[in-house]
Amino acid sequence: MKIQNKVFVVTGAGSGIGREITKAIIASGGKVAGVDLRKEGLQELKKELGGQGDNLSIHEASVADKKAVEALPKEIIKDQGHVDGLINNAGIIQPFVKVNDLDYDAIDRVMGVNFYGTLYMIKAFLPELLKRPEGNIVNISSMGGFLPVPGQSVYGASKAAVKLLSEGLSSELIDTNVGVTVVFPGATSTNITKNSGVKSPMSEEDAKKAKIPTQSPADVAKLVVRAIQNNQLRVYAGKDSKFMNKIYRLSPDYATNLIAKQMKSLLK
Ligand SMILES: NC(=O)c1ccc[n+]([C@@H]2O[C@H](COP(=O)([O-])OP(=O)(O)OC[C@H]3O[C@@H](n4cnc5c(N)ncnc54)[C@H](O)[C@@H]3O)[C@@H](O)[C@H]2O)c1
Repeated sequence: MKIQNKVFVVTGAGSGIGREITKAIIASGGKVAGVDLRKEGLQELKKELGGQGDNLSIHEASVADKKAVEALPKEIIKDQGHVDGLINNAGIIQPFVKVNDLDYDAIDRVMGVNFYGTLYMIKAFLPELLKRPEGNIVNISSMGGFLPVPGQSVYGASKAAVKLLSEGLSSELIDTNVGVTVVFPGATSTNITKNSGVKSPMSEEDAKKAKIPTQSPADVAKLVVRAIQNNQLRVYAGKDSKFMNKIYRLSPDYATNLIAKQMKSLLK
């Protein structure tokens, strides 16, 4: 699908990957309705866009709030006229603890934003996308959605649910004008730990020493824009995601043990 003159709803547009996707869409001649829990991030972005700021409309809402999500199509169509694409990017991680130590409040929060938030947005906007000459849905899953990461098991389950939902939806929509893309980013340098209200399992000093390679959110955004243009179903974003996808396919046990060993020292 061409980006130029198309309107995209982007959730979590105020920070990290969502912010970069928004900038990339606007740079390619599209318009964005940015949805975020935190209005300030969206307002900052609008300022940063300068003369292009008119191409971003701001919508403060939690994707985990079904009623608020159901009100969005009317509000956004009033601002933008129509919607051609939906990018479900808003997401949070869980506290770095084992399932045995994870309370139901944290579980509900993660499933509520990552899985139900994505589902509510799809249910709200798909009828609008089906009315358009061409449409697109992008769901941001995670490398953790196909590879088990101890200490993030419920996060991984929420992202695996996003993966299967996307793949099922793609098959259901095969004879329609709406394409589906699911993205599996590897480690990306954003403020997701802080924004999710959780403590990093590593001290800042240890993290610097560990030198875990990360990609920039702008790199992920580039791949997302290309996937929309090429109507690509799966995107493995980052060397780690590409590599672990191959290893996991060759030997799920080997891949699972490799990550389990790496996480062992971080999980008490
Ligand atoms: N950063 C990584 O390493 C990484 C890796 C794989 C996948 N991802 C996924 O990428 C997506 C974007 O994450 P990011 O790293 O850019 O994080 P981020 O924290 O920088 O950005 C997430 C944005 O989503 C918003 N948000 C959170 N909960 C929301 C809600 N209930 N309703 C509306 N907005 C909400 C936040 O306010 C924030 O602006 C997430 O789905 C995340 O799971 C990130």
